[in-house]
Amino acid sequence: MPQAVTVKTLMEMKRKKTPIVSLTAYDFPFARIADEAGVDVLLVGDSLGMVVQGGASTLGVTMEEMIYHTRTVAKGAQRALVVGDMPFLSYQVSVSEAVYNAGRFLKEAGAAAVKLEGGAAVVDRIRAMTDAGIPVQAHIGLTPQSVHQLGGFRVQRDAERLLLDAEAVESAGAFSVVLEGIPKDIAKEITAALTIPTIGIGAGRECDGQVLVLHDMLGLTDGHLPKFVKQYGALRKNAVEGIATYVKEVREKIFPGDEHAY
Ligand code: KIV
Repeated sequence: MPQAVTVKTLMEMKRKKTPIVSLTAYDFPFARIADEAGVDVLLVGDSLGMVVQGGASTLGVTMEEMIYHTRTVAKGAQRALVVGDMPFLSYQVSVSEAVYNAGRFLKEAGAAAVKLEGGAAVVDRIRAMTDAGIPVQAHIGLTPQSVHQLGGFRVQRDAERLLLDAEAVESAGAFSVVLEGIPKDIAKEITAALTIPTIGIGAGRECDGQVLVLHDMLGLTDGHLPKFVKQYGALRKNAVEGIATYVKEVREKIFPGDEHAY
């Protein structure tokens, strides 16, 4: 088995300028598939609230749901680093609740790290978690848990603030930072300024790595996709076609054939 990816591996990849590949996963079979395909970091994103649960935002996702999905992903990952995404209200209320909930991802779900949203505003959480031995990936720019404060899923363009946020989370001990929905020139500047890897989503190719939402990139999502998504598959179309053929064959008594009978 190839050597498992750790937070140290990611720092080393930045140093060697090897792009880091991250992808979301929410269950055992896709964790296995993505791990086998060579993904370095499996992020159990709270995006599951939208792509798995069918919600309009990520705000309704609970700790129990995140623990459940993270546990299934951790079982499927042999090489990739598994990062559990802290859901809304699991780290905002107090530092002690934040550390406790972050610890649950490692203790109960088998994750190796957690991710939380926010820059300078959450440095006390990041510091307390890292002091407790919990590796933290930060997430700045378009932070979906703040969708109502941001006035929608909008590209974030305040270069000065983004750089300050990035430097703040690095100083607080984050091992990496997700840059979501920011202009590529700002992402390039932040990437050059930091010693920790930047992982972009809608932030251009100059980040140290990329992350995408699994269902979006495999063509499973039904409906609007952001501009930054590239589709590498057409799984929804394939599934509809396959299931429609099954429906037809059952109705016409083609399936099961003799070869499927005892
Ligand atoms: O929840 C998620 O999937 C994420 C990624 C889009 C970075 O936060």
